[in-house]
Formats: sequence, structure tokens, C-alpha cells
Amino acid sequence: VIKVKIDQPIAKVQPNMWGVFFEDINFGADGGIYAELIKNRSFEFTKPLMGWTIQRKKANEGEILVVNRKDINASNPRYLQINNENGVFSIINEGFKGIGVKKGLKYNFSVMYRQLAPGVKLHLQLLNASDQVIGEGNLSPEKTGEEWSKQSAGFTATETDPKAKFAIVFEGKGKIDLDMISLFPGDTWQNRPQGLRADMVQLLADMKPGFIRFPGGCIVEGTDLANRYQWKNTIGPIEDRKMIINRWNTEFAHRAAPDYFQSFGLGFFEYFQLAEDIGSDALPILNCGMACQFNSGEVASLDELDPYVQDALDLIEFANGDVSTKWGKMRADLGHPKPFNLKMMGVGNENWGPQYLERLAIFTKAIKAKYPDIKLINSSGTDPEGDRFNLLNTSLRETKADFIDEHYYRPADWFLKNAGRYDNYPRNDTKVFVGEYAVHADKNYVGSNRNNWQSALASASLMTGLERNADVVQMASYAPLFAHIDAWQWAPDMIWVDNLQSYGTPDYYVQKLFSTNKGTDVVSITLDGKNIIGQDGLYASSVLDAGKKELIIKISNSSDQPKVVDFDLEGKTKLKNKGTVEELADANLNQLNSFANPEAVSPKKSVVKINGKKLTASLKPYSFSVFKIPFN
Ligand code: AHR
Repeated sequence: VIKVKIDQPIAKVQPNMWGVFFEDINFGADGGIYAELIKNRSFEFTKPLMGWTIQRKKANEGEILVVNRKDINASNPRYLQINNENGVFSIINEGFKGIGVKKGLKYNFSVMYRQLAPGVKLHLQLLNASDQVIGEGNLSPEKTGEEWSKQSAGFTATETDPKAKFAIVFEGKGKIDLDMISLFPGDTWQNRPQGLRADMVQLLADMKPGFIRFPGGCIVEGTDLANRYQWKNTIGPIEDRKMIINRWNTEFAHRAAPDYFQSFGLGFFEYFQLAEDIGSDALPILNCGMACQFNSGEVASLDELDPYVQDALDLIEFANGDVSTKWGKMRADLGHPKPFNLKMMGVGNENWGPQYLERLAIFTKAIKAKYPDIKLINSSGTDPEGDRFNLLNTSLRETKADFIDEHYYRPADWFLKNAGRYDNYPRNDTKVFVGEYAVHADKNYVGSNRNNWQSALASASLMTGLERNADVVQMASYAPLFAHIDAWQWAPDMIWVDNLQSYGTPDYYVQKLFSTNKGTDVVSITLDGKNIIGQDGLYASSVLDAGKKELIIKISNSSDQPKVVDFDLEGKTKLKNKGTVEELADANLNQLNSFANPEAVSPKKSVVKINGKKLTASLKPYSFSVFKIPFN
């Protein structure tokens, strides 16, 4: 018999306990949630015409150049110059692995231009795989002269095609310069112009995540310091956001993507806005003066660390400062006078060694002196049980670190064995943030399995251990979040997308069941007086939700046998005689969700009866169940 002691809460559950980890990996941002359809819109990729082809209908009658003005405009040096004598020619953009087009949807084109010799008109066309036009419009530039102007034009698609192309046909004699050639679907999240893909944001919103960690991951560090993530380069007019090569574009990526760059169209303002939209806390992670230690290992010398530290201080002012401050005013000017209420920040991602400790100490001193209430997340490297981890962990605890960020990508049996990992963890000032975790069948981070039911069930089992120890483990996020089916570097991932659709893996549903049933207080749940960490294949945790007045029991059955389990629900609290159970189950541990069958593994809800203080539950083989029992 499993005993649940309803009246004896043993720990508080933080309201932001279960969050999400966002990184621009696997085309998660550019080519993913950032809904821009044009690849290399400002010609800043290493090869300036990457993603574009030029098509001449009459030979040599038009002229086209990529012009570089790096001394005048260092953040957006290149633009396209069209000098049309009397020809008709086009430029065609292939999109990010094609352009997803929906029949009947409006598409919003915009471009920056200056007309030196007016006369060129832009004929806009969406083309399907057979080069048939499936949507078209026109833009006749209105302004002339040396100044850059911006102009837009909209048109509607006449067919659905997940892999369309976009052409601009230049018609008429004249000379025009073009930059920031952009095309967005008309159905972005909250209809924001040049915004985010609504289906992908909706999947996140449905999870009600407690926080969003951004912008990564390794892209925080960069392969070298020049290519680290710098938040100040990601705010303001998009044409001024200086692009860099994405760290997942390197030879280090398991599936190198030569066309992977960061446009920063999704920048720090948009990240804060996204967090606010879906009711999550923002958790930015900043570079600590160290590039990725698996790559260059480049570090900023200590006497050149100031700008890095200043970036952290300025970010807090940007998020929370009032409009009388420099960065608070910047936030207001960008359209958000109210503060974003930033509460925490990470210093470094997967950094370690004495170099990390000495840089972290400088950041911590400066940030705590000015903002003592901001909680700081410290890195613990990449190996959750090696000597390096233990050494670093001991040092960080000695400094009374607020949070230590643990990462683990390990096989399913490691997750099962570690469901009790935190039961005997030190209970001192330092809390744990399990900032990245996922079950990996192999150690190459290219798992052939795309989050099958086995990996999700093992995650759920481990997560009961995180929840039971919510006094120590105060935040957790699965990683990575998104992957494009034609452009991923790392697997498994929680949500898969193509150019038009998205679906949650079994892991998505596990995460969602935890975050939407987080409760407020942990209560004891034991079998023969012991935590339930694998006895008979069972893993369990239990919480109360004081606001909703519910007792919630989460239990996984990792065995291939059905189980009938009796619960004694001890305590004075008067339970109602009817509750619900949401069950994830599949007899096949290799079961996947897919575009064709997106809910193959997804929760099924039914009613359960409570007999006074007793609940008898039938657990299917390989199942994870969340019972909810209301009380008065
Ligand atoms: O989640 C993918 C990568 O895994 C992250 O970028 C990095 O922090 C970790 O090594």
C-alpha cells in the first residue's frame, strides 16, 4: 500500500518550478519560431548570395551587385544594387528549407530601398515546386533619392505548399538599392508584424511554463568570443541588429549547417515579451567572458572583463529600470514602459574550472552590490557526476551560490537510477536548477530516436524525484526545445516542426503534465516507509494545490506488467469521492509521435473513484499517470 500524508507538507513548490529552455539550435529561432520566410534577407551570410539565385530572362540586360559599405554601416554592411538597362530578371529566395505557404493566407512583404534612378518595379511571386505562381503582388517604390526608405506590400497565396520559393521580378529601366528583403505570414503570434510563428508559441503557451531560459545553451558562449551572444546587438531596429554566424553552423555541430546564422530578429526584447505573453519568468543566460570550452576555449582576460559585467548590469536595468534610466528608457522606447520584472540571470553556460570561478566572482560581486535581489544561476559544466562537477559544486556551495545549473543528457536507465539523486543532496543556501536534461539512447547527441515513449517515461520517472525534492531543486527545463525536421543538429528535442506544422513529442506531454499540475506543496508519498524510486518499477511524487484544492499524485510504472496499486490517503482533509486521472501509456517503448500521428502518445483522461481515504488504481504497463483528487 502506498501512503500519502496529505496534511503534512514537506516542501514548497516554486510557482516557476517547470520551465522551458530556448536556444537557436536546430533552426529553433531563424527558420523556426521567428516567422521570417526569407533566408539571408540582408546579404550578410558569409557568402553574400547564399539562399538566393539570380534568373535572367534576357541575357545580360540587367546588372546586379552586392555592395559593401562596412565603414558607413558596420552592423548591416551589404545591400543589393539593381541596375536595369532594359531587361527582365529575378532574384529567387529558397527560404529556410523551403517556404511554407498556406492557401488563402496574406503574406506581408517589406523592403528597404533607395532609388537613384527611378523606374524599376518589383513584381512579387510565390512559386511552387514546378515554378507555378501561387501568390503574387506588386511594389512600386514611391520615394526617390539618396535616403533609405521602407515600403510594404501584401498579397494572398492561392495554394498551400510547404516548400515554395519567393521571387522578385525586376521590371523597368532604372537603378535601385535593396536591403532587408522580408516576407512574413499574416498569421503571426498576436498578429505582431514581423513576429513569431503562432503554432509554435501556442505549444509553449499550452504548457504554462514557469520560466523561459534564453538564448541558450552553447550559443551564449559562441565558438569564440567574437561570436558570443551579445544582447545589446539584438534590440532596436532589425536592420541594425548585427548578424553573426550561429555556433551550430560550425564543424563542431553534429550535422553542420552552412546556412545557419543568427539574424536576431528574435532578440532580447522579443524574448522578454514572449515570456510575458505566456506568463513565464524570463531567465536570460549571459556570457561570462568565456567562449565554448569544447571549441576555442578563448577567455577574456580579467582586465578586459568590464564590458561583459556591464552587459549584465545593463540588462537588469533594461528589464527593470524605470524610464529615467538609460536602459529603462530604451525598453520604454521599444514599446514597453512597464518593467519586465526580471528576477534571475545566469552567468555562463556549461563553463567550469578556475577560470570560470574567478570570472564568476567578479560578476557576482558587481551584480549583488547593485541588485542584491537578483538570483544568480551558476554553471556546473557538463558532467553531472565527474570529478570536475564535484569540485566545482563544492566551490560554488562554499560561495553560497544561489543556484547551480546541472545538465544531463544520459540513457534511460541513468534517469531511472537517478530518480533518488536529490534525496540526500545538501539542504543549504544553494538551490539546484536542472537547466538541461533529456534521455539520450546514445552518447552522440544525434539520437536516432526522436523522443520515443521510453525516453519520456524515464524523464517522467526522474521528474518525480525533482518534485519530491522541490526544496532543493527549484527549477527544471528539458532541452533542447525545438527542432526543424529538415535542419536539426541535435536530437532528441521536445517539439518538432516543419515549415507549416508542429507537434509535441511524448516528452512534451510529460513536461506539460508536470507544469500544468505543479501544485503548491509537496507531500510525502511512500511505499513501506520509503520514497518510491523504482520498487517494483514504480516512481512517484505527490503535491497539494492549495489554491485549486486538489491532491495530485504522479506515478510512473516503468515495468512491462500492469499494476494494481492501493493508495492510503492519510489526513484530516476531506477528499471528494470522485477525481480524474490523466494517463500517458504505450505498450511499445519505441512509440513516437509524428506529423502524421502527432498524438500517438498523449494524455487520456478518465474519472476515478475515491472510497473514503482509499484509492485503488490500475496502472498500465509502461505508463505515467497524474491523479487529481479534489478536497473541500
Ligand atoms: O541543448 C543543446 C546543448 O547542450 C546546449 O547548447 C548546451 O548547453 C548543451 O551542451
